[in-house]
Amino acid sequence: MDYFPDEIIARVASLIINSERCGALTGAGISVESGIPAFRGSQGLWEKYDPDEYATIDAFIFNPEKVWTMLRDMSKQLIEAKPNPAHYCLAELEKMGFLHFIITQNVDGLHHLAGSKNVIEFHGNGRRIVCFSCKRLFSLYEIDLDNIPPRCHCGGILKPDVVFFGEDIPYEALKMAEMEISKCDLLFVIGTSASVLPACTIPYAVKAKGARIIEINPEKTGLTDSITDYFLRGKAGEILPKLMYEVKRSVKGHKDE
Ligand code: OAD
Repeated sequence: MDYFPDEIIARVASLIINSERCGALTGAGISVESGIPAFRGSQGLWEKYDPDEYATIDAFIFNPEKVWTMLRDMSKQLIEAKPNPAHYCLAELEKMGFLHFIITQNVDGLHHLAGSKNVIEFHGNGRRIVCFSCKRLFSLYEIDLDNIPPRCHCGGILKPDVVFFGEDIPYEALKMAEMEISKCDLLFVIGTSASVLPACTIPYAVKAKGARIIEINPEKTGLTDSITDYFLRGKAGEILPKLMYEVKRSVKGHKDE
């Protein structure tokens, strides 16, 4: 169910078409319809696993076997997951030249699988596994998840190449994001509670430069009543296809005039 009139979709579609550099900041909510639960809320991963015990780098170093019980759950979900209409719409908008970048907090790689090209993975990618000792890289598909913690040929413990609490954002991702933020005039904030630093500062940085903020989420967030210009309440996998339809209709209308 959505709570906004069709004219809002038309207005947002027109903003997309007329924007110079449009981007999206995505979070776990965009992959919920692909079967990957979000982190917060009653169905969230942090209800089952206390992040202090399972998601900090210190916890991983202290007890990798325990942390891998959560990582194994996450990895299995990731292997099963397929992009949903929201991922495909963003990829199509990029192909049409209307979306220029995605900064994602997700580690599921679903934007790439949907065909998006300019994706900045702020928290890494869980399909990539790295040896904590020798830094050799593996694919998730090579790892024996029945034997945890998995180990490298060198004997070192393997770790998904994702950012744990207490670790830095990958330098390259940070630099790329800064560059995109400086040019962006329209930002979609999709499926994120916008509550984790430093990603949650991105909408404010973009807004401070005068960009518009469009939020897509079934729930309000801390951004909604402060800096969001248009709040499209609902599921990303339902709202983005509507927007896509309207963008295509408008573009065709212009061409036919
Ligand atoms: P959260 O779990 O905090 O928030 C998910 C958001 O998605 C919520 O605001 C939901 O209302 C919304 N949502 C749920 N279903 C949706 C749907 N179908 N369509 C659109 N939105 C939907 O996840 P993130 O904001 O991504 O970091 O969390 C940020 C970071 O916190 C994660 O990257 C992770 C976590 O701790 C690390 O592990 C470092």
